[in-house]
Amino acid sequence: MEPLYEGKAKRLYKTDDAEVLRMEYKDEATAFNAEKKAVFESKGKLNKAITLLLYKMLEDKGVKTHLHADLDEVNLLVKKVEILLVEVIVRNVAAGSFSKRVGVAEGTPFKTPIVEFSYKSDELGDPLINDDYAREMGLATEAECALLKKQALVVNEVLIDFFQKCGLRLIDFKIEFGRLSSGEIVLADEVSPDTCRLWDAETGKKLDKDRFRQDLGDVMEGYQEVLRRIEEVK
Ligand code: C5P
Repeated sequence: MEPLYEGKAKRLYKTDDAEVLRMEYKDEATAFNAEKKAVFESKGKLNKAITLLLYKMLEDKGVKTHLHADLDEVNLLVKKVEILLVEVIVRNVAAGSFSKRVGVAEGTPFKTPIVEFSYKSDELGDPLINDDYAREMGLATEAECALLKKQALVVNEVLIDFFQKCGLRLIDFKIEFGRLSSGEIVLADEVSPDTCRLWDAETGKKLDKDRFRQDLGDVMEGYQEVLRRIEEVK
C-alpha cells in the first residue's frame, strides 16, 4: 500500500476508519536536515515502543495525544490530525543549536525552561521563529501559540519527573501538535530519543540521537537503554 505521507522517520497509511491512520516507525535516521543519513536496525521498533509508553503515561497525566491504539512492533494507530507547522522545542539545559547560536556551553542548566518555536519546513531547515511570525505566516493564532507553549511546559514537567525516576536527565526535546477533526489541538508525532536529548543522570552519558549526530557510536544501545529504564519504571 502507498503511504499517505512519508517523513524522515515515519510513514502514514490510511486505514478502514477515516479518522484513524497507521503510523509506521522506520529504521532510517537523518540529522542536520537530512545531510547525514543512516539506517539503524530496530530503531523503528524502539522508538515506537518508547513513544507508546510515554504517550500512555502523558495521557494518564491528562495530556491529550493523537494515540489511538497499539498495533504491532513498528506501527501505532493514531487519530487523524492536521499537523501544525509550528514545532515546539523545550530546553532545560543548554545544548545543540542553542549552544551553537548563542555560545552558551553545553550542559549549562537554565533556571526556567526555554520554549522555542520553529517553522516545520524541510526546505528551509526548520528555522527558528516566534509567535509573531507564526501569526503573520498563518501557522497558528496568538491564542494557539500561547496554548502550545503552555502544553509544552506541562509535557516538560511530566517528562522531567518521569525521566528522573528512570535515572535520566531531560536536556531538551521537540514536540509537534495536530488538530483533530473536532478542532481540538493534541500532541502528535513522536517522543523518543530521536526527538529528546537524554543524559544518564549520574554519568552524563548521552543516550539519544546525539550519539548519531556526533559519531559517538553504539547509537541503538542508547535507545535500548532508554526503553529498558522506562519499562522498569512505568
Ligand atoms: O538541534 P536543537 O538543539 O535545536 O534540538 C533541540 C531538541 O529538539 C533536541 O532534543 C532535538 O533532538 C530535537 N529536534 C527534533 N527535530 C528537529 C530539531 C530538533 O527532534 N527537526
